[in-house]
Amino acid sequence: MKLLLQNIRELVQVEEQPAEKVSGKDMALLKTVKDAYLLIDDELISDFGPMKDMDRVQVGDDTLVEIDCRDRLVMPAWCDSHTHIVYAGSREMEFVGRIRGLTYQEIANRGGGILNSAKLLHETPAEVLFEQASARILEVMRQGTGAIEIKSGYGLNTEDELKMLRVIQWLRQTTPVCIRATFLGAHAVPAEYKNNVSGYVDLVINEMIPQVAAEELADYIDVFCEDGYFSPTDTERILMAGIKYGLRPKIHANEMGFSGGVQVGVKYNALSVDHLEYMDREEIDLLLGSETMPTILPGASFFLNMPYAPARRMIDEGLPVALATDYNPGSSPSGNMSLAGSLACLKQDLLPEEVINAATINGAYAMGVSDRLGSIAKGKIANLFITSKIPGCDYLFYSYGSNLVDTLILNGEIQNI
Ligand code: NIG
Ligand code: FE
Repeated sequence: MKLLLQNIRELVQVEEQPAEKVSGKDMALLKTVKDAYLLIDDELISDFGPMKDMDRVQVGDDTLVEIDCRDRLVMPAWCDSHTHIVYAGSREMEFVGRIRGLTYQEIANRGGGILNSAKLLHETPAEVLFEQASARILEVMRQGTGAIEIKSGYGLNTEDELKMLRVIQWLRQTTPVCIRATFLGAHAVPAEYKNNVSGYVDLVINEMIPQVAAEELADYIDVFCEDGYFSPTDTERILMAGIKYGLRPKIHANEMGFSGGVQVGVKYNALSVDHLEYMDREEIDLLLGSETMPTILPGASFFLNMPYAPARRMIDEGLPVALATDYNPGSSPSGNMSLAGSLACLKQDLLPEEVINAATINGAYAMGVSDRLGSIAKGKIANLFITSKIPGCDYLFYSYGSNLVDTLILNGEIQNI
């Protein structure tokens, strides 16, 4: 089937020569076509350009569906490269606890936080987890997300980690959203290993990773490299084991301090290092010489009242930056990429153009799919959205909290959501 989008006010993030990512000054450049058309043939983008160049004969009229996009923008669907959306229940009681003065760490030390979610997940059947996560996916689709990375990490024992990863595979089979799966067995140290972290690391290495790999349940491996969670040495051991099974690293690094996570991530050629609320010269220099995508999660900073990653400085120094939501029950219970974009503008001084690059092509890179998603380019998969009637890209983030996504098209098909 062919789908023709016509009279598009602005077709955003077009590429003639697709790039795998965008860095530094180039992040402020966003190619667009005004008064444009876009032709989709089955699941792929087959042509686009200014309306005046549209060749009706070439477009043809065999089973053609036409959509008038007057006054609307068309842009690539968001690529959310860091989430934890498979989780059980919710943790609003901790949110209230923080309002009353407790810190995230204090809550965690009392058995709340990630361990609280692990307990809930243990008690929740896979079918219920699947239902809850499916509802979250539907929610983020309505907000314009077309690709999402999902981590395990609320199991913290072999059986429950496998349960989570199987739910992620199940979601992959049932949703049109592109899903990448990450094994995060080292998300927190379970209570029974409190005084034996290396014992838990052994379990991750000797039992979990081989089983995850045997069932081909994950694309990537992640570690929460942070004081009180896993040290750089623990992280290194886990990464080496994962890499042996073909799992490329993506690291939680420098969320609460200078954890050494960037160093270990770059050393093992991580696809991304994420959070980065704490960054200095050394981290920036290491990333400049690497293929690792620095990923910012301003939703977590907002929700936990933490410092924001110095993304302005990172881009000014020449780095690429990806933007993701970190959608999870404890530090960022929102998967709204447009809202994360508003935070990046308001709290991290990113320009709307930089935010769009960070949330599309660079997000796609951080989940290993930028060859087929993340921009409007011929031959790429048609994952895009049509906005409501808005004046331009800047309005998307200016109008914070509004949902301006009108129609979502994934794999060339209009989504009935
Ligand atoms: O990315 N930092 C570690 N993991 C999550 C928080 C998970 C939770 O609190 O449930 C994060 O912020
Ligand atoms: Fe996270």
